[in-house]
Amino acid sequence: MKLKIALLAGDGIGPEVIDQAVKVSNAVAEKFNHDITWMPALTGAAAIDAVGDPYPPETHEICAASNAVLFGAIGDPKYDNDPSAKVRPEQGLLRMRKALGLFANVRPTFTFPSLIDKSPLKKERIEGTDLVFLRELTGGIYFGKKGREDQGNTAYDHCVYSKDEVRRLAKKGFEMAMSRSKRLCCVDKANVLETSRLWRETVQEMEKEYPEVAVSYEFVDAVAMRLVQWPSDYDVLITENLFGDILTDEASVISGSMGLMPSASVGSKVSLFEPIHGSYPQAAGKNIANPLATVLSAAMMFETGFGLKEEGQAIRDVVNKSLAEGVVTEDLSDGGKTYSTSEVGDWLARNI
Ligand code: IPM
Ligand code: MN
Repeated sequence: MKLKIALLAGDGIGPEVIDQAVKVSNAVAEKFNHDITWMPALTGAAAIDAVGDPYPPETHEICAASNAVLFGAIGDPKYDNDPSAKVRPEQGLLRMRKALGLFANVRPTFTFPSLIDKSPLKKERIEGTDLVFLRELTGGIYFGKKGREDQGNTAYDHCVYSKDEVRRLAKKGFEMAMSRSKRLCCVDKANVLETSRLWRETVQEMEKEYPEVAVSYEFVDAVAMRLVQWPSDYDVLITENLFGDILTDEASVISGSMGLMPSASVGSKVSLFEPIHGSYPQAAGKNIANPLATVLSAAMMFETGFGLKEEGQAIRDVVNKSLAEGVVTEDLSDGGKTYSTSEVGDWLARNI
């Protein structure tokens, strides 16, 4: 297969972890006879520094013309403590999601048997966890009208959802539930928020189109608690943008390291694959960051982006092998030998 992949390394550790995913993807391409053309493009603080725009038009053109986008990380501390900054790296990510129509963010959470003791949660609580969040990604409070009034002393962010936005996200949730354990949890705050009542009403209407799926409705505050108490009770969860942002960071704790969880953002056109972690600026340039979340994002890219299941599985197998053999970065080390970011990438590519 001929594959054109837009490569957006971004900020902080983004370039280092993306390099490893490229090595592993190239090894897979060689083994299975695919022909990858990588198309690098600027985004985030790196793009602001270079051209003054975190998502420049050339980057959009490259992404829109690709078969998939592989993304590293975005964010730079020099913007975090400056509320007055006019352009922010994160705006690039949000604009890209909107411009590429990436309305559903698929964030799985699972455990690795060899890392079960790395989680701060008790082993017997997290064993067997295998859940997936579908987070709405282009609506809600992230994209509503925002502003200031009263000489800047009052601020607002509107949370707006249309029925169509809820339906298209929920449809993906029902379909995913059908392909898994046929359980779907709709996470909302319908006891307080009107948008949540619209979510609940819409999902309830859709239940009859999927009679085999058992749907539960839970309030987001209760899910925040139960998620770390009994994570294996959940399978597919659907939720709005901000709730999904918060709950998926929380869920990543279950797997033991934020450096492990991949994600896919999908819509009607091209899909984007990225680790769920941020740009981890403290580690940037040190060759110590864990590349596995990005490598596993590449596995999702082969599997769900290109429909190449065996290729995706080959990546997951080699990641499991590296964990079992202790070829890991320092965040996962048991005090024994640790490997650098690039050493882990080299080892994975060699063992594909
Ligand atoms: C994420 C990130 C982004 C978000 C930020 C960087 C804008 O936290 O992908 O979860 O809030 O969506
Ligand atoms: Mn987040």
